[in-house]
Amino acid sequence: MKAAIFHGPNQPLTIEQVDIDDPRDHEVLVRTAASGVCHSDLHFVDGLYPYPAPAILGHEAAGVVEKVGKAVTYLEPGDHVISCPSVFCGFCEECMTGNLHRCSNRRATQRPKGDKPRLSQGGKMVRQFSDLSTYAEKMLLHEHALVKITKEIPLDRAALIGCGVTTGVGAVLNTAKIEPGSTVAVFGCGGVGLSIVQGARIGGARQIIAVDMFAQKAEMAKRAGATDFVNSSEEDPVKAVRRLTGGLGVDHAFEAVGLAKLCRQAIESLAIRGTATIVGVLPPDATIEFPWMAIRPECKVQTSRMGGNRFRYDIPMYLDLYRQGRLDLDQMVTKTGRLDDINEAFRAMKAGEVARTVLMFD
Ligand SMILES: NC(=O)c1ccc[n+]([C@@H]2O[C@H](COP(=O)([O-])OP(=O)(O)OC[C@H]3O[C@@H](n4cnc5c(N)ncnc54)[C@H](O)[C@@H]3O)[C@@H](O)[C@H]2O)c1
Ligand SMILES: [Zn+2]
Ligand SMILES: [Zn+2]
Repeated sequence: MKAAIFHGPNQPLTIEQVDIDDPRDHEVLVRTAASGVCHSDLHFVDGLYPYPAPAILGHEAAGVVEKVGKAVTYLEPGDHVISCPSVFCGFCEECMTGNLHRCSNRRATQRPKGDKPRLSQGGKMVRQFSDLSTYAEKMLLHEHALVKITKEIPLDRAALIGCGVTTGVGAVLNTAKIEPGSTVAVFGCGGVGLSIVQGARIGGARQIIAVDMFAQKAEMAKRAGATDFVNSSEEDPVKAVRRLTGGLGVDHAFEAVGLAKLCRQAIESLAIRGTATIVGVLPPDATIEFPWMAIRPECKVQTSRMGGNRFRYDIPMYLDLYRQGRLDLDQMVTKTGRLDDINEAFRAMKAGEVARTVLMFD
């Protein structure tokens, strides 16, 4: 099969032939139909985080089951599925306490070290990123990486739920648990930030202030449900949030970029007893500093991982909201491309041109 191979930081991905094994007991072979391009992959391509090469990146996909291992009863060939990076073992302490997105025993869903790899080239292992590797024509996954979905949902829309939408909407509904009538600010209007805006709208926020440094994000943010847009390259966003909230600040601020400066701005935008939720992935050595006087009394700062999902429950719920017109996935697909458009998709993402690029397969 063809896949986009990561050979190391600051190099373009290259399209190459890769061998993919047959599914074993709890594994499933999926024909990839669509893969969204999330900024988390770009962090590895840009060298922000180290990752061993060769590897196949990508972690936001939908597809069709081709073959299942002999112990799989949940799925059968022909089923439509969404993959999620929150692969769960189902029996560790985190899983047993309902925090499947924090599963602490991912090993149980991987092949043992030294065993035949799922992905290889000339007999040598190719790393499977996030236990998924979606920038490939096929994926060989543990069944606990997949949720079955109804066949009516277009698979390019479905793909986005695998990471961006689940991360953003979940950060609002599962992690921050905003109250109806809340005021919200969202820093960053990419695939994740726009999903946070949508989550805030679905959760009943009365004011949603979207912030981005690119003016072209204003329209996307408004369509997602933002009541106000602040262009941070023209105006100090903290002052703007105060102005737009009559000096009070917001009940909830979300950081969806991955920069210490923006985390600080989110914290400084809070109202008394407000909560800042950091969703962006910062460089490992990033330090968030802010003057004591900038912190409002009793405010809280927390992070959110993969929207605190229970994805086999959350994703069908998001698809219901999509069918009812309450979650807009159509606007999130700004561009579609083919597997060999992957490097262009990263460029468009950096230039702020897209909500998401979705790569389509035959
Ligand atoms: N917590 C999680 O589980 C999780 C999951 C997925 C993604 N993420 C992270 O979320 C972040 C966003 O991902 P994405 O796919 O939406 O990225 P993206 O590139 O699509 O969006 C980022 C947005 O931030 C804007 N931006 C960049 N610098 C800015 C600045 N200085 N001021 C204001 N706006 C600025 C860009 O214009 C863009 O609209 C990334 O750090 C990604 O790794 C976290
Ligand atoms: Zn992602
Ligand atoms: Zn577990």
